[in-house]
Amino acid sequence: MTVPAIEGGTPVRKTVLSFSPPDIHDKEMDAVRRVLQSKWITSGKECKKFESLLSKYVGSEHAVVLGSATAGLFLSLKIEGIGDDDEVITTPYTFAATANVILHAGAHPVFADIEDESFLISPEQIRKKITARTKAIIPVHYGGHPAELDAIRDIAQKHSLIVIEDAAHAIGAEYHGYKIGSGKNPTVFSFHAVKNVTTAEGGAVTTDDEAFANELRLYSLHGQTKDAYSKLQLGGWEYDIAVPGYKFNMTDIQAALGIEQLKRVDENRVKREKIAKQYSDLLNAFDFVKPPSIKEGTTHGWNLYPLLIDFSAMKIDRNRFIDALGAENISSNVHFKPVHIMSYYRKTFGYKPLDFPVAYSLFLREVSLPIYPQMNRQDINDVIEALSRILHYYKK
Ligand SMILES: Cc1ncc(COP(=O)(O)O)c(C=O)c1O
Repeated sequence: MTVPAIEGGTPVRKTVLSFSPPDIHDKEMDAVRRVLQSKWITSGKECKKFESLLSKYVGSEHAVVLGSATAGLFLSLKIEGIGDDDEVITTPYTFAATANVILHAGAHPVFADIEDESFLISPEQIRKKITARTKAIIPVHYGGHPAELDAIRDIAQKHSLIVIEDAAHAIGAEYHGYKIGSGKNPTVFSFHAVKNVTTAEGGAVTTDDEAFANELRLYSLHGQTKDAYSKLQLGGWEYDIAVPGYKFNMTDIQAALGIEQLKRVDENRVKREKIAKQYSDLLNAFDFVKPPSIKEGTTHGWNLYPLLIDFSAMKIDRNRFIDALGAENISSNVHFKPVHIMSYYRKTFGYKPLDFPVAYSLFLREVSLPIYPQMNRQDINDVIEALSRILHYYKK
């Protein structure tokens, strides 16, 4: 059954407000055009420049740009020597890529439930999941909200585990005064189209470990000791294949886009934060709605604005709530359907929804609202107006 717009069938706005469109300025177009008109369009000097700006921005010694965050997570596991039935602890409340890469590496994903309402992996639950086979922990900075890194690093140190941060959503976020990505451990960013910095598709790993960064570069491009750009710079055709590498490189076209995007990341984060505050100010007035919480000492990246609704207090369920927003011409989304209830994971590992009760209960109550820097005052007011109408009209 379709849900009509509330006020006599007239939606809050005439045109659809997208959920997360890319924010591309003329400078990005010019930068991409410059690369396309040059003699070098694949991995080259723009990638090197993007790496250097990125490491400077997050405060790491090194950054390696890649074709995706998925590639970065997978290569980080591989280079850390994880595979062959090792166990890697991660959250079920993430996009499937976080868990899929553990399987690709030949290891076992072991889920630790999230904390109530923060959506972040619970250090308490991680402790319970450690066995003699555990080798690594992948915390996810969900939506740009930093995970409990101090507690997670303490656990890792005590049990000699590796931490690989999934910071796909978290460029610009900070933990206790430091940018996410500045820690010693590998941190993996995504530059997919809906992320706060986009290269259309793309990712990067930041690290302080030079040997690790060199291995990442080697494995990301076939294992070649001398890639095409180095040949161009240094001369000589000869190269070796030192390891059987992958094809996970970024192109200069993407990097040129990323360089311009990175210049606006802080300014855009502040815009996102202002939108979040306006949403939360409205939502705090409804006792059956919970706006996202922010942990002490963190700066949220606000890639997502996930709200939690107690649908038992409403006359409609989550899907009809999303339809009701749609009827007002406001796009929304759900982040995430937990990995353990995906059919592959259910069939292969026998998971039941309530094996991770917090993740499952949050999933049933979660709706993500549009949050992006191009939203103007009218767009923000439209979302607020639509939410307000729907929450009043459908509450029991
Ligand atoms: C939490 C998380 N991790 C990893 C990824 C994978 O990122 P990519 O698409 O750059 O491979 C995503 C993608 O959205 C994600 O949301």
